[in-house]
Amino acid sequence: MVIVDALFNSNAEIADKIELITGIRPKLEIFDLCDADKSADFFRRHNDLKGVIHFAAHKAVGESVEKPLMYYRNNLVSLINILEGMTDNDIPNIVFSSSCTVYGQPDELPVSEKAPIKKAESPYGNTKQISEEIISDTILATELRGIALRYFNPIGAHESALIGELPIGVPNNLVPFITQTAIGIREQIRVFGDDYNTPDGTAIRDYIHVVDLAKAHVVAIDRMINGKMKKDFEVFNLGTGIGYSVLDVIRAFERVSGMKPNYKIVGRREGDVEKVWANPDFSNRELGWKAEQGLDEMVASAWKWEQAIRKK
Ligand code: UD1
Repeated sequence: MVIVDALFNSNAEIADKIELITGIRPKLEIFDLCDADKSADFFRRHNDLKGVIHFAAHKAVGESVEKPLMYYRNNLVSLINILEGMTDNDIPNIVFSSSCTVYGQPDELPVSEKAPIKKAESPYGNTKQISEEIISDTILATELRGIALRYFNPIGAHESALIGELPIGVPNNLVPFITQTAIGIREQIRVFGDDYNTPDGTAIRDYIHVVDLAKAHVVAIDRMINGKMKKDFEVFNLGTGIGYSVLDVIRAFERVSGMKPNYKIVGRREGDVEKVWANPDFSNRELGWKAEQGLDEMVASAWKWEQAIRKK
């Protein structure tokens, strides 16, 4: 196994941590997949790969509104370089990190893979829509096969607290903001809007434990390598099927940590949808995969991780 990472939002110690957890030391090559020459060289040297899991992308919705070109360049150029490298070297399988953001605000909930793709709410969301199209067009024209995994809201960390997310600067996402407030780095959680058409007025999302999410990738790559796909391009929702409000997540944090971080209700955040949660039936049935961890376990693992990184 070989990892390619530009380490924009990560660090090289990840390879040590993966070795500690799995007993397998991954090779790590540090370069930017937007560099066409380096990418082509990488795929030439690794033309025996059975497949690629492509996670590398920028992912902050708000930042993408401020810096659209940075998002289009990074997320699309790297994908094109990867697909060229794969097709030039007959590497047949790609698993792609897509997002529930491709559904916009769905007309029907829970949202299934059959729901129409709506105009993206942000340049970030648009890069995910365009990426799915680029992959699908490439599959039509070549021998490539692909699976797009549409993530809902991944949170939490590995139970060992050896690996987890490392947000740069002020976190955009809810859960790292909660844990950083509880540990004293931020003063107060801001709850973006309490006037949505939801039971407590705050927005609803389908939070999924990152380890459950990771397991779906193992199933997906195995499905491709072992010839179990039903079509050359398949799309799966990765969610639990349960929606929780922002206040539900804060309450879960209070339960598992015994703390009561400050929060205040502020205005809605631009680009946010009101509510979205997955219909995971197709993924459950076809992949034989199901998200197992509940909200309290997810939030507890995020809290354990926050405490572990601050100790360092
Ligand atoms: C968004 C994208 C998702 C993407 C993810 C990556 C949409 C609908 N979803 O998730 O596809 O993969 O970013 O980063 O565009 N909140 C607060 N206070 C905070 C932070 C968040 O109240 O400080 C609220 C948000 O308004 C939202 C919920 O918490 O209702 C979750 O927000 P966040 O964790 O940022 O994820 P999304 O925006 O849902």
